[in-house]
Amino acid sequence: MKRITMENKISFILLITLFLSYFSAQSYGKSQIEALSRLYKAKISKNSTVDRSHFNASDLYIGAKVEPQNEMKEKDRIEKLPGQPPVRFKQYGGYITVDQKAGRAFYYYFAEAQHSKESLPLLLWLNGGPGCSSLAYGAMQELGPFRVKSDGKTLFKNKFAWNYAANVLFVESPAGVGFSYSNTTSDYGKNGDRKTATDNYVFLLNWLERFPEYKNRDFYISGESYAGHYVPQLAHTILYHNKKAHKNIINFKGIIIGNAVINDDTDTKGMYDYFESHALISDGTLNKIQKYCNFSTDSSQESDECIGASNEADTDVNSIDIYNIYAPLCSNTSLTDKPKKASIVNMDPCSDYYVYAYLNRPDVQEALHANVTKLDHDWEPCSDVIKVWGDSPSTIIPLIREFLANGIRVWIFSGDTDGRVPVTSTKYSINKMKLAVTTKWHPWFLSGEVGGYTQVYEGNLTFATVRGAGHQVPSYQPVRALSLIMHFLGGTGLPNSSRQ
Ligand SMILES: *[C@@H]1O[C@H](CO)[C@@H](O)[C@H](O)[C@H]1NC(C)=O
Ligand SMILES: *[C@@H]1O[C@H](CO)[C@@H](O)[C@H](O)[C@H]1NC(C)=O
Ligand SMILES: *[C@@H]1O[C@H](CO)[C@@H](O)[C@H](O)[C@H]1NC(C)=O
Ligand SMILES: *[C@@H]1O[C@H](CO)[C@@H](O)[C@H](O)[C@H]1NC(C)=O
Ligand SMILES: *[C@@H]1O[C@H](CO)[C@@H](O)[C@H](O)[C@H]1NC(C)=O
Ligand SMILES: *[C@@H]1O[C@H](CO)[C@@H](O)[C@H](O)[C@H]1NC(C)=O
Ligand SMILES: *[C@@H]1O[C@H](CO)[C@@H](O)[C@H](O)[C@H]1NC(C)=O
Ligand SMILES: *[C@@H]1O[C@H](CO)[C@@H](O)[C@H](O)[C@H]1NC(C)=O
Repeated sequence: MKRITMENKISFILLITLFLSYFSAQSYGKSQIEALSRLYKAKISKNSTVDRSHFNASDLYIGAKVEPQNEMKEKDRIEKLPGQPPVRFKQYGGYITVDQKAGRAFYYYFAEAQHSKESLPLLLWLNGGPGCSSLAYGAMQELGPFRVKSDGKTLFKNKFAWNYAANVLFVESPAGVGFSYSNTTSDYGKNGDRKTATDNYVFLLNWLERFPEYKNRDFYISGESYAGHYVPQLAHTILYHNKKAHKNIINFKGIIIGNAVINDDTDTKGMYDYFESHALISDGTLNKIQKYCNFSTDSSQESDECIGASNEADTDVNSIDIYNIYAPLCSNTSLTDKPKKASIVNMDPCSDYYVYAYLNRPDVQEALHANVTKLDHDWEPCSDVIKVWGDSPSTIIPLIREFLANGIRVWIFSGDTDGRVPVTSTKYSINKMKLAVTTKWHPWFLSGEVGGYTQVYEGNLTFATVRGAGHQVPSYQPVRALSLIMHFLGGTGLPNSSRQ
């Protein structure tokens, strides 16, 4: 198991040191934090080469074509994963080539719905990072049909899996993440938002060719964290090509993103405000941050006072799990010989280690049809081979506006115990859009309890919090998360009374 090596901290600014130092104490397990912080660091450094201009599919070149996928589907059928309890739904895993010349291929895992698979929609789930795996988090720790036990080799069922509501597709993207690879290794140095969206789009076209029965199915895209970029960018690319072709190449209906990176300056401001309002940093530190810092990634100047104040905040939140501020930390990363009693509703903070062990097992890789080319690096939850990220717009708000104007369903949710992309950040980012409220703030209910709060804006943009959930909402509040996705896919608002 590789440990995350701390890079030089030379050109750091702002929030960055916070997560680096947190990280060195935590090892790779929470490397989603490191990936996001590394990108912010690159974006706000004075000599930044990260392209922060708006994303627009008209600038993308989609070179690859749809290739015949005959009989590949049955080859991808997963009979049974090692250590898996019996199930009734079908699962598939394998590679889709996204660039033949370069030899670039994305790994996918697909769990068909537990019932009514012919009528339920198709839902794609993406994790963020950038560079983190949707298999590591989404499939194996959040909304997938199984979780890994503490022995690192047996699985147990997730009875709140999202394939009770949809046919759920997970893809590891871009190349260099998890089992996804390129035979042209220089590709690993060319990643960014645009490349990810382009390849994801080509992936999707070819995947639908392999699974043609889903071609006209209602299609939704979901994701969390930095997928706040991936999801809208892929959605926009789909819309662009549908419009250009004057037909629904993909029958795209909506997006749902959680604790999502949306707009850099409001995201960062909201993070510090959350720290202060949750008694993690002092009023004085927040006052200095508000006075001296400019969180815009388009700003080239950060003062020494700002850096000093952010360092104070770093030190204060150093020793907690900023992704779920009330959660216990993993205190023993070893696997156990006999599996500990496992629970879906009480997330084990050491799960990262169980998943790492499981997905690196040769028998598991064989059953998944993964790593068929014998890659020279191990499977990691967040990529070690991707070193640079070339482009990342400072905001994705123009894309959200486009969806609302085109009748695409947009839901934005927020686990309210996440401190990294917290509920304050999301509210500030939505407020920036200056949309009129059509249904005012009110609690939503599940089994007679308040599941969270919600507010609906013009264009039907729905904002919903999930009470008591950290950054990985389906890990910490699986019942509420399943209810949320069911209402989203069902096209109804969240229940606004305990009697519904
Ligand atoms: C920016 O400058 C820092 C130190 O001055 C250096 O470590 C870093 O590699 C530079 N970044 C780029 C993208 O040139
Ligand atoms: C993308 O660019 C086209 C052509 O310049 C423009 O009409 C469109 O509004 C842009 N879309 C977004 C979402 O910015
Ligand atoms: C990458 O190279 C290996 C070994 O030559 C080959 O088997 C594989 O099909 C290639 N991958 C792609 C996507 O072309
Ligand atoms: C932050 O920097 C941006 C870009 O340089 C600038 O437009 C903006 O006015 C600044 N904000 C504040 C509050 O100074
Ligand atoms: C960690 O767990 C392993 C496996 O259960 C056990 O053998 C080891 O003694 C534990 N280490 C500590 C420091 O508790
Ligand atoms: C792929 O397989 C090789 C050889 O068994 C192994 O060394 C490597 O860690 C694996 N890599 C991934 C990404 O699974
Ligand atoms: C918003 O929802 C209402 C009620 O369900 C519906 O009548 C309206 O068409 C929707 N608007 C958009 C832009 O989807
Ligand atoms: C609650 O839902 C009912 C119907 O389900 C609707 O008529 C009412 O306006 C809603 N109230 C609020 C505050 O959303």
